[in-house]
Order: sequence, then C-alpha cells, then structure tokens
Amino acid sequence: MNPSFRMLLTIFLYEQSISLQLRNRFLADLYRATESIEQAKQEWKWICQELRELYPKDSKLHIQRKIIQACKLRGRKYPLQYILQTQPFGPLNIQCSPGVLIPRWETEEWVERTMPLLYSLLVPNPVRIMDLCSGSGCISSYISASFKRPHCLHIIDISSKALHVSAKNLLACKQDSSTLDTQFHKVNVLSAKKPMLNLLRNCHAVLCNPPYISPNEFYSNTDLSVRRYEPKHALIAQEDGNQFYKIIASYVFELLKDPLITKDALRLLVFEIGSSEQAKYVKNLFSGSTFHTTIWKDSANLDRTVVVQRT
Ligand SMILES: C[S@@+](CC[C@H](N)C(=O)[O-])C[C@H]1O[C@@H](n2cnc3c(N)ncnc32)[C@H](O)[C@@H]1O
Repeated sequence: MNPSFRMLLTIFLYEQSISLQLRNRFLADLYRATESIEQAKQEWKWICQELRELYPKDSKLHIQRKIIQACKLRGRKYPLQYILQTQPFGPLNIQCSPGVLIPRWETEEWVERTMPLLYSLLVPNPVRIMDLCSGSGCISSYISASFKRPHCLHIIDISSKALHVSAKNLLACKQDSSTLDTQFHKVNVLSAKKPMLNLLRNCHAVLCNPPYISPNEFYSNTDLSVRRYEPKHALIAQEDGNQFYKIIASYVFELLKDPLITKDALRLLVFEIGSSEQAKYVKNLFSGSTFHTTIWKDSANLDRTVVVQRT
C-alpha cells in the first residue's frame, strides 16, 4: 500500500474510533435526559450535525469539545432546543435562546386553528393583530409567514431579551408583503394600564399565551428541565395562575365602556390556558351578551384555548 495512503487511512480510522468512543461515552448523558436509547441516538445526531453547522470554521477538536459540553448539559436535563438554538413551529424554525420560553406544540396547534378566524374577521384591512406576551415571537412569526391578508403586528412582552429574539425571528420568517408593519413594545401588562388600553383599543384581534402556572403547581408539577432552565417569569402567574387573564379582561371591559371604541376593535381574543378549570375561569370572565366564548381542546384531548369573539 502506498505509504501516504496508509497514513491517511490510519488517521481516518483513528478519528472514527475517537468519534465512536465519544459517542458511546456521551450517549449515556443523553440517555439520562431522554430515558430512551433511540431518542438518545437521535439527539446525538442532531447535536453533532447542528454544532458543526453552527460553527463551520471551528476545528474538529473545538467542535468535539462543544459536543462534549452539550451532552454533559443535556445529561443535567438542559433543554435540547437551547443547545440546538431552534425549535420547529409549523413551517418555521424558531430561534431559541436561554431566558426566553421555548415554543410548544400546543401553541402551534391553536395558532394554526386560529388562522381561519383571522381571515373571516369583518374588519377593514390591514387587520391589526396583537401578540400579547410574545416570548420568542413564535405566534407573530407564524402569522407573518402564513397570513396572506394585509395585516399589522403589535408584539408585546416585558422582557428585552424576548423582544430581541422575537425581532430576529420575525426578520428571519418574513415571506411576503402582507405584513405591512411590525411594532415591538416593552410593556408590563400587569401595571402599564394606560399604554395597554391605548394598544388594545387599536387592535382587531389579540392572541395571548401568558404565564399561567400557579407557583404551587410550578414547584410541584412541572418537568425538572422546565423548572431548572426555562424562565420562571414566562410561566408563573399569581392568583392561581389567573392573574393575566383577569387583568386583560378588565382592560377589555373598560375599553368597551368607552363611547369612542369602534365596532371593529377587539373582535377576537384567543387565550392559551393550562387546565379545564382555567378554561372555565376565562370563559366566565367573558360571560354575558357582549362575547361568544368557545373552548378548544388540543390533540392530547386537553382544554387548551379559550376563543372569545365579540358578538
Ligand atoms: C408563556 S410565555 C409565552 C411566549 C410565547 N408567546 C409562546 O407562546 O411561546 C409568556 C411570556 O410573557 C412574558 N411576560 C411575563 N410577565 C409579563 C408582564 N408582566 N408583561 C408582559 N409580558 C410578560 C414573558 O416574558 C414570556 O415571554
């Protein structure tokens, strides 16, 4: 055999054996996180592939170090999405970053189901839509990428980091010219009553996935991975998790008493909720003749969304 070919072959085999040793060693970490050998193997593939793509200029050694670090983190239940830095959401790949909630499939489902309601809104174009408690901006990014009716988006969150990530996501997903305007607002929904009233009075539709887990439930019932690594302020709400629904409903009712409010304002409000009890609570907030409310289940057959339509 040609000596230089033999040397190349030796290097190749050596690298292969190192990769195999690494893989076996760190599959154990991934197994600890996933509790399934198949899933652990799949995550190994994703981590290797994604880190190579994220750092194309790094040396093999650097990439291997990053892979090792990622697997160790994952072994401590660090969310895969923060390692891979993305999460699929409908047709999109939403950028994820620690400090910002990872989008969930449950949200993706109801957002998709809301689209026909947005199309059928009897309001003049552009449809003005609020993404309230926007986080990564997955909801508004989905709308921007899929909603073909001319529309404007108001994206609201208390967290600068979330707004920064949502701006990146909106920029990455914008696919056609039907999104006429996108505005980002750093607002505390719970305390900034006047700015909230001004923003709400100009919106036709509000889509809202607020924090809705009570402190008790958060510390006793959520996954370790969520509890340890996802932002608590994105998940926990006081008053049995109902604090946000209650205050948003109070703003809506205050606006509806205003003689200057137009018939086009606040035609549709869609809230994600966490339990049947919470669904009933939100439905009750909007009971009466002004609104028609419906509860949607998710594909796990759990109450997941309350849809409030102005009659
Ligand atoms: C459950 S996350 C939803 C994120 C995103 N809409 C989604 O579906 O993945 C709730 C969001 O509400 C934001 N938030 C928490 N408290 C807030 C407040 N007082 N005012 C405005 N936004 C708040 C958090 O920063 C977080 O991004």
